[in-house]
This record gives sequence, structure tokens and C-alpha cells, in this order.
Amino acid sequence: MTVLGVNVDHVATVRQARQTNEPDPVWAAVAAELGGADGITVHLREDRRHIQDRDVRVLRETVAVKLNLEMACEPRMTAIACELKPDQVTLVPERREEVTTEGGLDLLALGDRVTATIDQLHQAGIEVSLFLDPEPAQIEAAHGLNVAAIELHTGQYALATGDSARQEQLAMLHQAAEQVLALGCALHAGHGLNYHNVRPVAAIPHMHELNIGHSIVARALMVGMQEAVAEMKRCLGFPVSRAVTDR
Ligand code: PXP
Repeated sequence: MTVLGVNVDHVATVRQARQTNEPDPVWAAVAAELGGADGITVHLREDRRHIQDRDVRVLRETVAVKLNLEMACEPRMTAIACELKPDQVTLVPERREEVTTEGGLDLLALGDRVTATIDQLHQAGIEVSLFLDPEPAQIEAAHGLNVAAIELHTGQYALATGDSARQEQLAMLHQAAEQVLALGCALHAGHGLNYHNVRPVAAIPHMHELNIGHSIVARALMVGMQEAVAEMKRCLGFPVSRAVTDR
């Protein structure tokens, strides 16, 4: 069964809007775990727009499930990760002006920088996942990097409007998934997934982990974090007790 990593960045976004101490992403992580989250994901951005260093430190001590730290391929971030030792680091691209992560890493452009980062993380005993677009050349470039997982960027799938565009994006994800599995990596996916579009992605053979943030936090505002996570878990194959997943 596909496991669910819940991204709690946007709880920190609300807190940072007032530069105060609530709501705390640590509370959200506890509620997410109670709702059935298999992992907690946070993105420590270089501009610290939402998650702060303190959040990652406290989460490292309190999260009982897998802690996945998303970060840019930068020496300062690598040093923080090596000190805090999350269970997994997902390397993502980062641009200051973006609203959210806009695409996968460009492995072809990053070259040795990504290799050096992966080596340091491995030496610290941290598993590495690479966030990549479902593009054959990018996935091929991961050959030999020895990473545990590749997370396919589902943003274009989520944005596609109309059946044929969505099916086209889904077909690309299926092909990319086969390539990821052929490399011997675990198959992860995320970005833009919600209660209505998640099931075809979860149904990709051998899909191991989905990382979902915005839609869960948005729903949590209405129904609470624990229930929002439980509803997403039902979408991933737990017994569905609500019509919401059928819309
Ligand atoms: N996976 C990665 C690598 C991401 O950068 C993000 C956004 O932080 C997500 C998953 C979650 O995306 P969303 O908030 O759209 O569910």
C-alpha cells in the first residue's frame, strides 16, 4: 500500500504571516500522525519563509514516523541536514521568487554538486530522494547516484485540464515510474496532489510514497488535521467511508 508523507509547511506559513508562535507545525505533525500519516515532510527553504530551523530540530525529536526534509542542493542546507539527521532528505530545486517548488531538479545542470551533496548525506546515514520531472533524460541522469528513491513531480499532471491532457500526463508518469524502478530506486511522487486527483497516481504500480501538503492543510482548516489526513489515507486505499473521494 502507498504510504503518505504529510507536508506541514503551510501550517508554518500561517504562523509566519504574524511572526508569532502559532499555529505550530509540530502540533500539526502530531495530529497528522494521529490521522495515520506515515511520514512528516518539511521544506527548509533558504529564505525561511515558512519552516524554521527550530521546527526541524523539534520535529526530529518528536516525530515518531519518518521525517523527510526537503532542501536545496546547498552546502549550508547539507550541513544542517547532516547535523539533524532526518530519515530522508529530498533534494529539490529552489528559486526565491517561486510561490512553491516549480519543477524537478535539473540533474544535467547540477552535475558534481548533486553528487557531492548525496555523498555527504550518505556519510551521515541519511537516505536520499531526488525530486525529478517525469523526463527520461533526468531520470537517466540519476543512474549511478545510488539514491534510495526518486520522487516524480506530479505538478503538470495536477495542472492538466481535460481528460486527454490529464491522461497524457499520467502516461508520462507511468513511463517515468518504470524507468525509476529499473534504476532500483523506490518510487515516490508529489506536488499538486489532492483528494480528487490522487488515486490514478497512487495506482501506478509499485508507487511507494506520496508527499502531499497544500490540499491536506487546506482541508484541515475545515475538518481538522487528523480528519484531513484520515480522509487522504482513505483515498489511498483505506476503507472509504465518505462520498468526498468520489466527486
Ligand atoms: N513534494 C515536493 C518535493 C515538494 O516540494 C512539495 C511542496 O513543498 C510537495 C511534494 C507537496 O506539494 P503540495 O503542497 O502541492 O501537495
